[in-house]
Amino acid sequence: MNTRINKQIFNLKESATLYINQLALDLRDKGQNICHLGFGESPFPVPKAMQDELSNNVHKKHYISGNGLPKLRKAIAKFFNNKFGYNYSYENIFIGPGSKELIFQLVYLLDGPLMVPAPSWVSYGPHATIRSKKFIPIKTDFENGYRLQASELEKICKLQNNRQKILILNNPCNPTGSVHKPGELKDISEVCRKHGVIVISDEIYALINFGNEIFEGIAKYYPEGTITTSGVSKAFSAGGWRLGFAMIPKELSIIAKPFSAFISETFSCVSAPIQHGVLPAFENYELVKNHVENCRDIHGIAGNFLYKKFKEIGLNCPKPEGAFYLFPDFENFKELLNSRGIVSSNELCKVLLKEAHVALLPGSNFYMNENFFAVRVASVDYNGAKVLKDFLKYDKFNEETCLKIFPNLSKACDNIDSWLKNNV
Ligand SMILES: Cc1ncc(COP(=O)(O)O)c(C=O)c1O
Repeated sequence: MNTRINKQIFNLKESATLYINQLALDLRDKGQNICHLGFGESPFPVPKAMQDELSNNVHKKHYISGNGLPKLRKAIAKFFNNKFGYNYSYENIFIGPGSKELIFQLVYLLDGPLMVPAPSWVSYGPHATIRSKKFIPIKTDFENGYRLQASELEKICKLQNNRQKILILNNPCNPTGSVHKPGELKDISEVCRKHGVIVISDEIYALINFGNEIFEGIAKYYPEGTITTSGVSKAFSAGGWRLGFAMIPKELSIIAKPFSAFISETFSCVSAPIQHGVLPAFENYELVKNHVENCRDIHGIAGNFLYKKFKEIGLNCPKPEGAFYLFPDFENFKELLNSRGIVSSNELCKVLLKEAHVALLPGSNFYMNENFFAVRVASVDYNGAKVLKDFLKYDKFNEETCLKIFPNLSKACDNIDSWLKNNV
């Protein structure tokens, strides 16, 4: 039979993060001692209040409203409006099976080219490709921690003829761990307003901000044009629960009806017990606050530990301020890598996995040039449950403590260091 497949889907590759995760796990199964810095999943348990509420509601078997449980949507609106100064109303909040699916559906729904800062998360590009949408990575600089600058956005916007354009801004950022400064968000807002840009502000890491500044989202400065997405996968460690949400401003209410119809014709609704389980996270944040903040602080300690180690090894790396990622580069070793025949970040990651037993993701998966030796590091390869339990026992987190609680992170740095010294 001559099977014909939609070309846009047929040509998609498996998500790079899931691929490297599987490869690293397969190698571990074969007995290799792999330091897994490739996959960004929170290592901590789900807060107890959420687990209890899920158990109490496990009998809820009916389909529920496609947009989500009204109680949960109200709690989410109140939480985000109070915490970050937004102005979303609960009628325009949509619950989905992870924010990834909702971002995909929004990209599908909205006309216009999709712009993202480079580097950005691996899945935005394929979302645009599936819809045959023009995808435009925008240049950023190491000196600014790879944060999008208004001047670069302005240059790109001027080149687009479309009246409507979409920008996805992920803040705090996967892959860099950077957090946009309020002044930068204000400047970006002005460009967006001038050029008719709809912003999807991907704030899945909003509660994991451990830098010196408070976190602000662009919806505070550009409320009329910002759709904010978030969920429970990262700060609440519930990735497998598959619950995310999108918040649409009243000025873009025209999106609500087709979005709701899109949901009803695709995933129908998110599992009812899961929606109940998530409720305490936003309705009664005090119940989970300590847990979430301790996890955030541990992410900060792990990120800063790796940052210091990378600098000692000789890698360039912006200081992480949020999420659980770092984006170091091996450009200082470029000539030596080239002399070994390694000419792309992809080849570098393959060699590091094979020879140094460290799993990393190539910067090229995040829309950087192939021959720029950046890699994405996830700083979560440790026993989260144990570290969280012991966290309050430690009164300070010096190098010695970190070596003890993050043995694989430390080993990964040692392996990379020896590999560079012995092979390059
Ligand atoms: C930047 C970014 N956005 C969105 C997501 C998707 O999260 P969810 O589990 O809500 O689909 C992830 C998950 O890795 C992410 O890193």
